[in-house]
Amino acid sequence: MRRWVAEAVRKIEADYQRSADTHLFKLAIPRLKNVDLYLKDESTHPTGSLKHRLARSLFLYALCNGKLDEATTVIEASSGSTAVSEAYFAKMLGLPFVAVMPRSTAQSKIDEIALYGGQCHFVESAIQMHDTATGLAQETGGYFMDQFKYAERATDWRGNNNIAESVFLQMQQEPHPVPHALVMSAGTGGTSATLGRYIRYKGYDTRLTVVDPENSVFYDSFVQKDRTLTADCSSRIEGIGRPRVEKSFQPDVIDDMIKVPDAASIAAIHWLNKLIGRKAGASTGTNLWGALHIAEDMINKSQSGSIVTLMCDSGERYLETYYNPEWVSTAVGDVQEHLDVLDRWL
Ligand SMILES: Cc1ncc(COP(=O)(O)O)c(C=O)c1O
Repeated sequence: MRRWVAEAVRKIEADYQRSADTHLFKLAIPRLKNVDLYLKDESTHPTGSLKHRLARSLFLYALCNGKLDEATTVIEASSGSTAVSEAYFAKMLGLPFVAVMPRSTAQSKIDEIALYGGQCHFVESAIQMHDTATGLAQETGGYFMDQFKYAERATDWRGNNNIAESVFLQMQQEPHPVPHALVMSAGTGGTSATLGRYIRYKGYDTRLTVVDPENSVFYDSFVQKDRTLTADCSSRIEGIGRPRVEKSFQPDVIDDMIKVPDAASIAAIHWLNKLIGRKAGASTGTNLWGALHIAEDMINKSQSGSIVTLMCDSGERYLETYYNPEWVSTAVGDVQEHLDVLDRWL
C-alpha cells in the first residue's frame, strides 16, 4: 500500500512538472486611466478550470493522510468543475470516481467526467449534495473527498506554487506590482482562503474582496457574522454561491464582500468577449463586475493601482446556457441594463 501511495504521489507530481503556469492578462480598458486590471486565466489548466489546482491538492492531501489505496472509490460533491478535475486525477491513478452533482449541471461538464471514466449521481438541489455523497461513501466503502470541508487546508497557503504566489510573482514587473485588491468569488471558499492567508503571511498591503452571486448565503453571513445561515435555493452562477456557509469559507481573511446581481455576472462575460474575444464562465463575470466596481471607487478617490481577478473557467462549457440568449432571458431576465453600464468603460 505504501509503495502504491508513493507511486500515486509521483504520478501527480510528474503531471504538475509537465504543466505550465496560467497567463495573467492585462485588460486594455480605455476609461481605466490610472488603474490596471488583470485577469488570471485559469481556464488553461488541463481540465479547464481553477479546480485543477484544488483537485491536485485534494488528491495529494488524501494520499498523504492514508485515505486512498489502489481500490478506493473516490466520491465528490460538486457543481461540476471540481468533479471534472478529480475525474482526471482518479483516472490517472486508476481509481473509480463518482460525482454527486445538481441535475442542472452543464451537460459539457457531465460529458467531460464521463470522458475520464467517472460516473455522475444527480440530486435535485445543491443542498442535498453533501448528505448524498456521505451516504454513497458509506455504502461503497469509498472516500468522500469533501472539497467544501478540505479545500481551505489541502492547499499550502504559504506558497509552494499556490495561486496567490503565482499572481504576486507574475505582477513583479508591472507598474503597480502589489495589487490594491484581489477579487475572487466563493464556491468552497478555498481559493479566497489561500489568497487572504498569503496576503497576510507576506505582509502585503492588498485588500481581498469576495464577490457573491444571488441565491447564496456567503454575503449575508459575512455581514451578519453568522455561519448558521442557510437558504433553500441553488445558485444560477455555476461553481459559486452556496445555500449554506461551507467550512472552507474563511471570512476572517476577507476584507470586503460585494453582492453581484446574476444579470450583471452574465452581462460581464459577454462584455469580456467583446473586449478580448474570449468566452468565460459566469463566475468570471461575477469577479469582473466586482473588480470594475472597485476600479470605479479608486477612480472616484483619485487613487492609482492594480486589481487582479480570475478567469475561473472557459465559457465553451456554457454555450447552452450563459451564451444562449433564450436561456438567459428565461432563467435570468434582461441583462441589457448591465451591459450598458459596462459599455461605458469602453
Ligand atoms: C467555475 C468556478 N468558479 C469559481 C469557483 C470558486 O472557487 P472556490 O471553490 O475556491 O471558492 C468554482 C468552484 O467550484 C468554480 O467551479
